[in-house]
Amino acid sequence: MNFTVSDPPRDKGLSKEWNTIFSQSSAAMLTPLFLTTALLFMGHTCYSLHTQLCKVRPLGIPYFVIPFYPGPLPRIFLIPFVQLLIKVFGLTHPQFFLMTLDWQVRQRYEIYRLTGSDIFFIVTPWKVVLHVADPDMAVEVLAGKGGNGELYTRPEIFSSMLGLFGENVFTAEGAVWRDHRKITAPVIGKSWRRLSVVWEESLTQIQQMIRYYDKQEATNASYRDFRRVTLGVIARAGFSKVMEWVPLATAIANGRDDEGSYQKCLHVLFENFIWAVIAPSWILEMLPFKALREAGGAANDFRFFMNEWFEERKTKIELDNKTTLGPSSGADLMESLVRSSGLDKGSTLEAPLLSKSEVIGNAFVQALPFSLQHLANSPQIFILAGHETSAHTIANAIYFLAMYPEYQVKLQEEVDSILGDSDHNQTSYEAHFDAFSSGWIAAIMCETLRLLPGVATTARQIGPTPRTFPRAGGQRPVTLPPDIEIWIQMIGLSHNPKYWTQPGKTESQSAISEFRPERWLPKSGDNTMFKPYNGSYIPFSIGARGCLGKKFTHVEFTATMLGLFREMSVEFDSCGGRKTFEEARRECLAQMENFESKITLQPTGKMPRIKWVKRRR
Ligand code: HEM
Repeated sequence: MNFTVSDPPRDKGLSKEWNTIFSQSSAAMLTPLFLTTALLFMGHTCYSLHTQLCKVRPLGIPYFVIPFYPGPLPRIFLIPFVQLLIKVFGLTHPQFFLMTLDWQVRQRYEIYRLTGSDIFFIVTPWKVVLHVADPDMAVEVLAGKGGNGELYTRPEIFSSMLGLFGENVFTAEGAVWRDHRKITAPVIGKSWRRLSVVWEESLTQIQQMIRYYDKQEATNASYRDFRRVTLGVIARAGFSKVMEWVPLATAIANGRDDEGSYQKCLHVLFENFIWAVIAPSWILEMLPFKALREAGGAANDFRFFMNEWFEERKTKIELDNKTTLGPSSGADLMESLVRSSGLDKGSTLEAPLLSKSEVIGNAFVQALPFSLQHLANSPQIFILAGHETSAHTIANAIYFLAMYPEYQVKLQEEVDSILGDSDHNQTSYEAHFDAFSSGWIAAIMCETLRLLPGVATTARQIGPTPRTFPRAGGQRPVTLPPDIEIWIQMIGLSHNPKYWTQPGKTESQSAISEFRPERWLPKSGDNTMFKPYNGSYIPFSIGARGCLGKKFTHVEFTATMLGLFREMSVEFDSCGGRKTFEEARRECLAQMENFESKITLQPTGKMPRIKWVKRRR
């Protein structure tokens, strides 16, 4: 049989008629198809929700139902709309704010107080999430093992965010993760040589920053400024790269030099991170929106810089091999990774793995032998994980010190009493870190991270078998069904009055939501800092997957504070006398209530301006 329907009649009038018939018939065909699909989808959604509720209801734990899971797509398309509705209609019920992002920053412990429980479920048709501000349970989830004898894994949404450049120490699980950790932990986490570099470079960066502000008498853009400081520190400690401190605007204006372009690309990438996560760079670069094109370009540039750094190090190892120099004991992160990926074996090095243009054109990962490809993404995760978190913690601390100048004085007195007349720029990690590790600087870091942990939530997933978890306060353990996600709420934990009300004081006297670094200081006659109830303060998480950079951050924070406050003090800028201290302080607190998680917790609005002034003695 010969069908000729696809050949439209040539006559113009007939053609119009044919088109009408065609569009009517396709509409007639598509409408029922669309309706049936929509009905099937709704039926499936209702059925899934019913199944999830059947899992949750018998447990007797409070729960809220919301219609979607906060994956990357709802984050972009749905949640901003919900946030707008909430603002316009002033909706305050938990059912609504739980649909937004970062409700935990605004709520702190209040939602747990409202439900009368330190754990509660959010039930969506697709997933059930248990939110936890119970320290015993948090410890078991983060440090305990699942049914297969392995640590509980991170849910996909957490890994996918940081897996932008491929698998790495953060996103890997099981044996692959152990490989990453074995190589990276000794270099970043423990090596005193690296920590000495961290100390030295933090002081250098701060010296350069202060010199700049001294000359310019400008007010500073603190979050960006400290991102530059910590980028300089991780670049030197992890990659032996020296980056002089310059403000972001100057770095961008000097975009032609490598450092400027590098900082610009990281800045654009961080500002548009969610887009870079949901779409590959080549798609973003084709879209008609400037911001998205820039995000795609920045992700590509970032790979390009990593490839260059990799190539440089490969060449150095090749040279070392030829001159029979083995790996030096002070090898940095990049060198350890490149060597661990088999590149220091003479035979492999004879032939280049990829030409320069291939390296530049491909993701960094493809430059390595297949079995070791997973190691290649570690440098990227170290830049991402190791610079924003600590930069924002330092900037948050600076704002707290601007709001509470009395603690600047305490800090400065501590520095003077330890250093006497000696020059702080001549100090070293080995000789000085311990002296500062249980005083005001350490207390200010702990209190800053208690009020504003760099990472608001960390999460784990229960595998295919039910698991039982302990609960604090003598409550009965709870057995959770399979495939549930458990989100550990750092802020809920560090504001939980059961663990933060001080002995002999009421909850309000303990000022749990306020900046009181003295709560961490050792009691008189003792040298150990206050140790909170296990699990109630975990900004670096705990267990085998806890933060690799905890000591790194502590050293960086200490040297930075030393460098800043030995000679300088921080103040709110009065904007030519138009803003009082109280107004600036209120503005600052209001901004802090509205911090959002991009990669780390950070301001979304404008923080009040601050300025560095010579310390009065
Ligand atoms: C204030 C600073 C920092 C904070 C608050 C912080 C916090 C965290 C948290 C909460 C985790 C997740 C652990 C989990 O899911 O259980 C983590 C993981 C990690 N952090 Fe940090 N971090 C900081 C600084 C750093 C620095 C400076 C580095 C590197 C130089 C670093 C490297 C890592 C790595 C590699 C992981 C993944 C560990 C693994 O999965 O085995 N972090 N961090």
